[in-house]
Amino acid sequence: MALVGTKEMLKKAQKGKYAVGAFNANNMEIIQAIVEASEEEKSPVIIQASQGAIKYAGLDMIVAMVKTIAEKASIPVALHLDHGTDYFQNILCLRAGFTSLMYDGSALPFDENVAMTKKVVEMAHVCDIPVEAEIGQVGKMDSSDEPGVAREKIKEFMAKPEDADRFVQLTQVDILAPAVGTIHGCREPIAKLDIPRIEKIRDLTGVPLVLHGASGASDEELVKGIAAGICKVNIDTRIRMAFTNTIRSYLNEHPEEIDPRKAIKPAFVAAKEIIKGRIKVLGSTGQA
Ligand code: G3H
Ligand code: ZN
Repeated sequence: MALVGTKEMLKKAQKGKYAVGAFNANNMEIIQAIVEASEEEKSPVIIQASQGAIKYAGLDMIVAMVKTIAEKASIPVALHLDHGTDYFQNILCLRAGFTSLMYDGSALPFDENVAMTKKVVEMAHVCDIPVEAEIGQVGKMDSSDEPGVAREKIKEFMAKPEDADRFVQLTQVDILAPAVGTIHGCREPIAKLDIPRIEKIRDLTGVPLVLHGASGASDEELVKGIAAGICKVNIDTRIRMAFTNTIRSYLNEHPEEIDPRKAIKPAFVAAKEIIKGRIKVLGSTGQA
């Protein structure tokens, strides 16, 4: 079917107390794995492209791949810009056919984040496209960081509920990603979500909430976070790990192999299994 927006999809999740997975599109096979896994789980899904993925594949290619695969799918698929730190990138994605945007001004002072997010929201709403924005800062873990160091980084940049409320009122943003206990790039489930903080932000803002850096959250933490108001869960690192580690093992076992498809096929299967597992935990199975 044709690509759908995230607004209705997430409102439905908010009501139904489950979350929709937003999985990062890093290449064609991962996009195929995302859609096949979601079809098998009969789950709605968000395919998201970061600025890095857009630079790697090209904007037109990402849109063409996602549209082609989604058109044949039996489930609702949305195409979302992930961490669009650039105003112009948001315009380009809107023009290219993305059905959901993110303006990430989390590195800016509060007032500048408000001003820029508002500009993106005003532009996107003309075309009836929803916008996500980030408040507080979901940082990034360096591969050398010990869990203790990562937890300290997390604590420092959590979103303040009053700021989140003011931010939504001032920007009229549709979807909010508050920093609530995760960090990007975690290879182990070390995150501890601040559940009272999520509940407070949910009650004050009323908008669907997003959990970024969800690869670092255990199943138990995800379930608690969703019960507290998380409706969109972003997962990238777990898929990358499954995909790349499978290619590595395959090539170690078959050093003579020169056909890339032979190594990529099992990686596709591994990625798909990870995605299916996440969908089950998020509770979106059967919600398509
Ligand atoms: O925006 C992307 C996500 O927040 C992914 O985070 O790589 O830690 O799963 P992750
Ligand atoms: Zn993120």
